[in-house]
Amino acid sequence: MLWWRRRWWLRLLILSTEQNFYNQRGGSDVGFLFSIFALASEMGIRMNGVMQSELDDLFEFLRFPSISTASEHGKDVRACGEWLLGKLSSMGLDAELHETAGHPVVVARNAHHDDRKTVLIYGHYDVQPVDPLELWDTPPFEPVLKDGRIWARGATDNKGQMLAHVLGVEQTLKEEGELPVNLIFLFEGEEEIGSPNLVPFIEAHKEVLACDIIAVSDTGMVARGVPTMGYGLRGITCCEVTVKGPAGDLHSGVYGGAVANPATAVARLVASLHDADGKIAIEGFYDDVKPLEGWEREMWAQVPGVSDADLLAQTGAPEVFGEPGYSSAERLWARPTAEVNGIGGGYQGEGSKTVLPAEAMAKFSFRLVPNQDPIDISRKVQAHLEKHAPAGVRVSVEAGHDGKPYYTDPHSAYGKAAQVALEKAFGKQPVLIREGGSIPIIKDMQDILGADTLLLGLALPDCQIHAPNENFWVENFEAGIAMNRILLGELASVE
Ligand code: BES
Ligand code: MN
Repeated sequence: MLWWRRRWWLRLLILSTEQNFYNQRGGSDVGFLFSIFALASEMGIRMNGVMQSELDDLFEFLRFPSISTASEHGKDVRACGEWLLGKLSSMGLDAELHETAGHPVVVARNAHHDDRKTVLIYGHYDVQPVDPLELWDTPPFEPVLKDGRIWARGATDNKGQMLAHVLGVEQTLKEEGELPVNLIFLFEGEEEIGSPNLVPFIEAHKEVLACDIIAVSDTGMVARGVPTMGYGLRGITCCEVTVKGPAGDLHSGVYGGAVANPATAVARLVASLHDADGKIAIEGFYDDVKPLEGWEREMWAQVPGVSDADLLAQTGAPEVFGEPGYSSAERLWARPTAEVNGIGGGYQGEGSKTVLPAEAMAKFSFRLVPNQDPIDISRKVQAHLEKHAPAGVRVSVEAGHDGKPYYTDPHSAYGKAAQVALEKAFGKQPVLIREGGSIPIIKDMQDILGADTLLLGLALPDCQIHAPNENFWVENFEAGIAMNRILLGELASVE
């Protein structure tokens, strides 16, 4: 019982006696006012809609530079995982930190009962690198609260969103003493590097991770105040192409024209990926693409925040561009892409240098949609690059990490329960979308654990995930905590 455990009434009684005492002595009310504030914060009175203790927890969590890709931050990732372990244990959950070949996995659970639904909540405590550091207004690992948002690397992706679930559970436990479901928290430290060790971990712990449904807050909301449920994610496959020409850099006057230029070759390869309209020109690339359904196109046409004008405002691009015959939302959520993420070779410094570079490179990623298979696409890409290799150079392609696309029925019983939770937490009916981004483990969990995932994103388009000045809206932190509390109740009563 909360009223008993927190004993506000006792404090209130003492306070009113105190005030009588002050007044009798003709003392000032300052001390009394101070006591009132102290009591208010003890009672968990909300400031800015969110409790100070919740902000304190998030700030502590954000101070760990848990950059998974940078080996020099290995101990920071671990320390962050250990902090999480301490937090989950302090809530009375049975929490464990599991070693992997890379960064640790943290798992926590309450006492399970056979007659309850089992809900797994997944999140990641690793973050993206912070460069370019000079573009940050405040240091990335010294969180600040400003203009209604928390500014720090990982604030949205994914520490703020995952902590909202943790704190929702903490509140329910404090107030009710127990949860309405069997809960499993599964938190990893390698999502931003493609979760290389999580699939083997899940396979090895299949029995203890068995669940009815999975909830994840690591995706987007289309606009402020518009609750958004995702029912799909794009997949991904990455590769890097290296083009080698002469044994060393050459004078471009002495040899240019008689020896092929690797930078030109890379440019030709990059250009060969699309036709002039923006359609991908790789043979067989669209073979397995699940066509958009009429109901999705109609529904998405009504979704706010994804018009061409919104897209221009969000990105600063001069014009929208993409595959003909599709709206921007359709291009983002239901069509595959071929992107160059990096391209390099030759002289990049000031002025000009007449050199014919020995080598050039490009990094590619392909976003995939149901039912494309990353391995199949990777082979098709490789074949395309070999076929289009210009004369006079050597082209080599190295495959990178990949992940399968995800799709589920948003109108399932669990999907409907999640929509009710979103509606109650945000006071508005949610929109249903697919996502352009990828969380490869979601499809793997569907395959290994046989459970679908509810994507309950809290990231807004201006949260600048993966970029300088990442931030998380306090209102979404608060709504996320409330949403978790309602969600577990709604999921518990699904037939
Ligand atoms: N949280 C994002 C994915 C995301 C963001 C989905 C916004 C939908 C909307 C996640 O942390 C991420 O960045 N994933 C990577 C995956 C990759 C490294 C395999 C991505 O999408 O690039
Ligand atoms: Mn991310």
